Amino acid sequence: MPTVKSIHHVAVVVSDLEQSLAFWRDALGIPLQEVRDVPAEQAQVAFLPLSGGEVELVKPTTDDSGVARFLAKRGPGMHHICLEVDDIEGMLAQLRAKNVRLINETPRLGADGKKYAFIHPEATGGVLVELYQV
Ligand code: CO
Repeated sequence: MPTVKSIHHVAVVVSDLEQSLAFWRDALGIPLQEVRDVPAEQAQVAFLPLSGGEVELVKPTTDDSGVARFLAKRGPGMHHICLEVDDIEGMLAQLRAKNVRLINETPRLGADGKKYAFIHPEATGGVLVELYQV
């Protein structure tokens, strides 16, 4: 049976990366690991890893991506929570069997080779949930 192992990261949509880093990095003191361009998501992402999971600050780099539309519609704020699972295909099959609405029916492959898929917020009580298999 597929298992949820941990909270992998929490993603926050931002309009101004430096302004957000002034809080997360400078005021809270979480070390910034790197800022990376993620062309697949049309975004720039700042990674602030902690031992129990990571904070990701996501800034859209175009006007028409999903993240850009989210920012335009709702403003900066919580975007998604990501759960690490041991078997993403198995978990998607389990969710489908329970009639949970998915955004990605099959896992997408990240640039780093990790598999991920999003579950529709309609099915989760309003929270966009990402599944991740490292
Ligand atoms: Co994510």
